[in-house]
Amino acid sequence: MKALILAGGSGTRLYPVTMAVNKHFLPIYNKPMIYYSLSLVFLAKIREIIIVVNPEDEKNFKQLLGCGEELGVNIEYKVQYEPKGLADGVKLCEDLIKEQPILMVLGDNVLFGHGLTELLTETKREIEKEGGSFIFGYYVKDPSRFGIIEFDKNGRVLSVEEKPNNPKSHYAAIGVYFFDEKVVDFAKKIRPSNRGEYEITSVLEEYLRIGKLRAKVLGRGFAWFDAGTHDSFLEAGEFVATIEKKTGLMIGCIEEIAYRNGWIDKKQLLKMAERFEKTEYGKYLFRIAEEG
Ligand code: TTP
Repeated sequence: MKALILAGGSGTRLYPVTMAVNKHFLPIYNKPMIYYSLSLVFLAKIREIIIVVNPEDEKNFKQLLGCGEELGVNIEYKVQYEPKGLADGVKLCEDLIKEQPILMVLGDNVLFGHGLTELLTETKREIEKEGGSFIFGYYVKDPSRFGIIEFDKNGRVLSVEEKPNNPKSHYAAIGVYFFDEKVVDFAKKIRPSNRGEYEITSVLEEYLRIGKLRAKVLGRGFAWFDAGTHDSFLEAGEFVATIEKKTGLMIGCIEEIAYRNGWIDKKQLLKMAERFEKTEYGKYLFRIAEEG
């Protein structure tokens, strides 16, 4: 399975902050936003990664993450010249996805909770074995702001509606999706929505039509943020800071996960730690390397 991280878009909800800088480089407390979506991919143990970027940001992404070699992964970039929607991002990557199942993560999502690694690796296994797709529902107070999942009594998905006026549930579809290899064909088939975007909900509807859309509910033990607005951006940063200061353990530390996954050795971790040695981040990497 490959991973697809969508890190293009226009970021208009964060204006004027994102007039001149792409939101995925902004700090959620002590690390760039993109680290959090990347860490989900790492936790799912996926090493083949495609990142969709805006043309003006490709250089900066390469400066930050390179081709992934230092982290023991392979990162390829795909330029999206216009932010024509999430499904457009999928369509663009046809040549890189190469008829494989994918884990798709939105670059502005922050997710944390007990059992996250098992949830991701288990779902990956299920998709590889049985095909189809999986989305994840998270209970929210204000459902009309999100893509909302309607379930039946047995937990089967009945519908997914984007920002509904009359929401059928309180479960928002978070920006983490597992798809089998049919996803590219579906993304190529759908038409743009009224707002002119190729919506991921249209792809989900295709999976629903063939009876292959399933959902898992994230319980109360999870914290999820779409850090794309001023408030949620701040909340995500505050949340990460609070947990990290209390526990002394980091959220979204890609170097640590790569090391714990056995993708890089102690020497490689120390090399990265040295680069950040003036910061708490660097000191944390030193500590992880010494603890083994
Ligand atoms: P959104 O938050 O839906 O859109 P956006 O980032 O353009 O922001 P705004 O609504 O404030 O204008 O996008 C979700 C994620 O997907 C985000 O991390 C950016 C990324 N994205 C793409 O990579 N390509 C796209 O065409 C779009 C619309 C989003």
